[in-house]
Amino acid sequence: KRIVVLISGSGSNLQAILDQTLDGSINGQIAAVICNRPDAFGLTRAQRAGVEARLLDHKAFESRETFDQAMIELIDSYSPDLVVLAGFMRILTPEFVRHYQGRLFNIHPSLLPKYKGLHTHQRALEAGDNEHGCTVHFVTEELDGGPLVVQARTDISAEDTANSLQQRVHALEHLIYPLAVEWFCADRLKLTAEGVLLDGESV
Ligand code: GRF
Repeated sequence: KRIVVLISGSGSNLQAILDQTLDGSINGQIAAVICNRPDAFGLTRAQRAGVEARLLDHKAFESRETFDQAMIELIDSYSPDLVVLAGFMRILTPEFVRHYQGRLFNIHPSLLPKYKGLHTHQRALEAGDNEHGCTVHFVTEELDGGPLVVQARTDISAEDTANSLQQRVHALEHLIYPLAVEWFCADRLKLTAEGVLLDGESV
């Protein structure tokens, strides 16, 4: 399978997925990494691995629509089976999301449907939750709202801060994002009206 990864920052999730395409755990290859920020370290990670790294700076476009249209053209030039958002910090237009329906993944640092949007670690702490985590999901037009593929959870202790939670959840992201990509590439996921099935079982 052909994978395109979209990033805006450090790209540690990109790295986790990349490592597993290289060691054969994922039956696929990253055809390109596309980034909207020139200073993102993830671009360096891609170059180091010999993966095509493309910069598409949203500031060079006059609107979200024209940027997303250019993104679609660039992404489609690599004919991906799967498009992976890995810390891509731009809201996508409905046209973009519809175009990649059923083959667009995102990872979010909360146990969705809890805490869509930003500052998830702080919000989990303030709510007095006793657990927190992260979620890989298919992207739909509702922000952080699509069908869930896999979640990982961690207990919240009295000593936890937003920073300690962020670090623990980030480490969990590096486990579940490659796993979700592995399942997708092995054709083990099926998207139905009721949600995602893994080998025919609900997840
Ligand atoms: C992750 O925390 C992810 O959940 C969020 O952006 C961050 C990306 O981190 N959407 P990295 O660039 O993969 O290190």
